[in-house]
Amino acid sequence: MLEIFEQEESRDLHSGFVVCEAKPEYATPIHAFSDPDHNLRLYHGDALHLLSKCKRELFDLVFADPPYFLSNGGITCHSGRMVSVNKGHWDEGRSFEEMHKFNLIWLRECQRVLKPNGTIFVSGTSHNIHSIGFAMQTLGFKILNDIAWHKVNPPPNLSCRYFVHATETIIWAKRDDKARHLFNYEEMKSIGDPTKGKQMQSLWRITPPGKNEKRYGKHPTQKPEALLDRIIRAASNPGDCILDPFCGSGTTGVVAARLKRGFIGFELDQEFIDLSIKRLKDEIEPPQSMLRLSEDIKISKCEEALV
Ligand SMILES: C[S@@+](CC[C@H](N)C(=O)[O-])C[C@H]1O[C@@H](n2cnc3c(N)ncnc32)[C@H](O)[C@@H]1O
Repeated sequence: MLEIFEQEESRDLHSGFVVCEAKPEYATPIHAFSDPDHNLRLYHGDALHLLSKCKRELFDLVFADPPYFLSNGGITCHSGRMVSVNKGHWDEGRSFEEMHKFNLIWLRECQRVLKPNGTIFVSGTSHNIHSIGFAMQTLGFKILNDIAWHKVNPPPNLSCRYFVHATETIIWAKRDDKARHLFNYEEMKSIGDPTKGKQMQSLWRITPPGKNEKRYGKHPTQKPEALLDRIIRAASNPGDCILDPFCGSGTTGVVAARLKRGFIGFELDQEFIDLSIKRLKDEIEPPQSMLRLSEDIKISKCEEALV
C-alpha cells in the first residue's frame, strides 16, 4: 500500500482554530476506500489534518470545492418549490476572519503538496471566492484564469431583488510564478466552448448534474461530471495523480477514474463517503460501468510520486 502520509507527528494547524470544529477522532486518517489497481483512495477525516500529514509535492492537480459558508437560513427555489439554502453544518456562515483563516490554511497546505509544476482549480461563489483569490495571491500562487461556470437553466430568484445567480467562479492557479504548468491546449480546442475547433474561452456553459449522476443519492452542492471532465483533461495527463480535499459525493474521483488518472479524496461526512464509494465502484466495476479500464493503465507515474 502506497503511503501518502508522513510517519512522524504532523504539524498542528488547528491550534486555537475552530473553523469546521473537526472532532478529535477525525485527526487520524481513516482509510475509507481504496482501489490500488486504479490508484483511487478515499479518506474520512478533516482535510486540514489530513493535508498537514501529507508528504510534500505529491499531486499533479488539485481540484477543491470547499465550503462556501452560505448556509444562512435563506431560501431558494428547487424544482419549482421554495426550499432552504442550507447545505449542512459544514457550510454554515462564519465571520469573514474565520473563513479567510480557514482558506489560508488549507490553500497553504495544497501549495505544499502540489508538485512544482502542478496546478489547482478552486470553485466558489461570491460568499468565499474573493477570500480564496486573496489568500492565493497572499501565498504566492500565480493565478492563470478565473473561469465563469455558467449554470445553464439556473433556478429563478424568488426575492426578485437580485439578478438570477447563474454563475460560479473557478480560479485556476499554479504553485508560483516560476512554475511551468500543463495546459492541454489542443484538447480544449477540440472540445471548443463556444465553438468547436476554436480556442476555448473562460466562460464554460455546463448544465448542473442530472438524475443519472445522482442515482446513488444527492449531494447538496454536487458538481457536474462534465465540469470535472473539462478541468481534468485541461490540466493533467493519464497516470497523473489528483487530490480533492473536500470531495463530497466523489465527482472528481469518478471522472479521474474514467480518464485514467489516480485520485485521493478527503471528506468529513460519512454519508458522503458512502455515496462516493458507491459512485467510484460503479465507475470501475463492470457491468454497471461504461468504462473498460485496460490492463496497461499507466498508473506507475502516480505511484512513484506517492512512495
Ligand atoms: C462544496 S462540497 C463538495 C461537493 C463535491 N464537489 C461534489 O461534487 O460532490 C464540500 C464538501 O466538503 C466537506 N467538508 C467540509 N469541511 C471539511 C473539512 N474540514 N474536511 C473535509 N471535508 C470537509 C463537506 O462535507 C462537503 O461534502
